[in-house]
Amino acid sequence: MSVLSHDGWEGGHLLIDLAAIAANYTQLQTLMGPRTETGAAVKANAYGLGLSEVAPVLYEAGCRTFFVAHLAEGVALRSLISRDSRIFVLHGPPPGTAPAFLAHNLLPVLNSLPQVQEWQALARDQNNTLPAALQVDSGMSRFGLSEDEVTGLSKGSGLEGLKIVLVMSHLACADTPEHPLNRQQRDSFERTRKRLPAAPASLSASSGIFLGPEWRFDLIRPGAALYGINPTPGRPNPMQATIRLQARVIQTRHIPAGACAGYGAAFVAPSPTDIALLGIGYGDGFPRRLGERGVVVLPERPDIKLPIIGRISMDSLAVDITALAGLPLAPGVAFDLIGPHNPLDETAFLADTIGYELLTDLGSRYHRTHHDPRKG
Ligand SMILES: Cc1ncc(COP(=O)(O)O)c(C=O)c1O
Repeated sequence: MSVLSHDGWEGGHLLIDLAAIAANYTQLQTLMGPRTETGAAVKANAYGLGLSEVAPVLYEAGCRTFFVAHLAEGVALRSLISRDSRIFVLHGPPPGTAPAFLAHNLLPVLNSLPQVQEWQALARDQNNTLPAALQVDSGMSRFGLSEDEVTGLSKGSGLEGLKIVLVMSHLACADTPEHPLNRQQRDSFERTRKRLPAAPASLSASSGIFLGPEWRFDLIRPGAALYGINPTPGRPNPMQATIRLQARVIQTRHIPAGACAGYGAAFVAPSPTDIALLGIGYGDGFPRRLGERGVVVLPERPDIKLPIIGRISMDSLAVDITALAGLPLAPGVAFDLIGPHNPLDETAFLADTIGYELLTDLGSRYHRTHHDPRKG
C-alpha cells in the first residue's frame, strides 16, 4: 500500500512524465516523415504542466518551432531555449509592442490589418523587411485575415516590409472528422495561400493531424496530443498519458445509514458506509463539478472505481470506500484522482469539460514532480 512519508508531500501530488511528452513528440514527428515539421504549442504554461520543464525537453526531442499565445509567454520561453528555435506568438503584437518582439527574437502571428500595419511600421523604422507569420481565417471566424483582406493586401505594395515565413490557419472542428467545415476550411486555406507569395503552410493542430496527410502541410502545431489528451475523441487514444494526480487520506470514518456527508448534506448514506477524506479540493484546481460524479482508484485495487460522494470542499473531498471491504487505510495512503484507470479525458468528461480545461486548471498548490528523461 502506497503510504509515503509526509516529508515529500501532503494534499495533492501531480506527477508529470516528461519522458512521455518527449515520446509523444517523437511519435508525431515519425508520423509526419521528413516533409512536415513538428512544432509544439506550449502556451498556458505548457497546458499547465510547466513551461520551464516541458520546453527544454521538447527542444531535446528535436522541436525547433514553438507556439505561445502571449508576448509575455514568448519572452519567458526565449530565456529557456536556444536561439536556433523559432517562437511564434499566436496573438500577434498588441499595439506598441512590436519592438519587444524584435528584442526577444520572437515572431508575431499577424491576425488582422492593424497588426500587419504595426509590424510594417517597425519594418520601416528598421529600414528592413521583418519576418512574421500571417494567419488567415478559413472559416472559424476567430483570428486571421479574411480572404478579401488577403486579396487586398496582395495587391500593390500591401505586403511591403513583410517577409512571410509561415501562412497559417486553424480548424474549428478537427475533432469531428466527418464535419463538412473541415474540408471547406482546407479549400479556403488553399485558395487564400495562392494569393500570397509562396511560403510554408500550417493548418493542423493535434486533431487535424489525424484527419490525414492532406491536412498536414509543412508544419503541424500540436499541443493537446503532446500532453496526452486524446486527439481522436471516440477512438482509442494514440498518445501516451503524461500525468498522474494523487491525493492522500487524511482520515477515514464509518457512517450509519441515513447520516449525511459534506456541505449541503448532499450525500445521505443509503446504508452503512465507509468514507475516506482526501486532502485535495477545488482550491487545488480539482473541479467541484466532480462531486457525486468523479471516481477515485486505489492503485493496489485498480479493479474498483470508488465514487466521490457529496460536494467537493476547497481542500478535501470524500470517497465511498465501502467496496474496499474494510481494507485498512492508514492516513497517508495515496489514491489516484487521474491515473491509468481514471484517465484525464474520462475525468474531464465526468466534469462536463474537456481535457484541455482540466489540465490548464491544475492548480499551483499541488506538490509537483517532473520525471525528466535526461536525468534518468
Ligand atoms: C492557433 C493554434 N494552433 C495550435 C493549437 C494547439 O491545439 P491543440 O492543443 O488542439 O493541439 C492551438 C490551441 O488552441 C491554437 O489556437
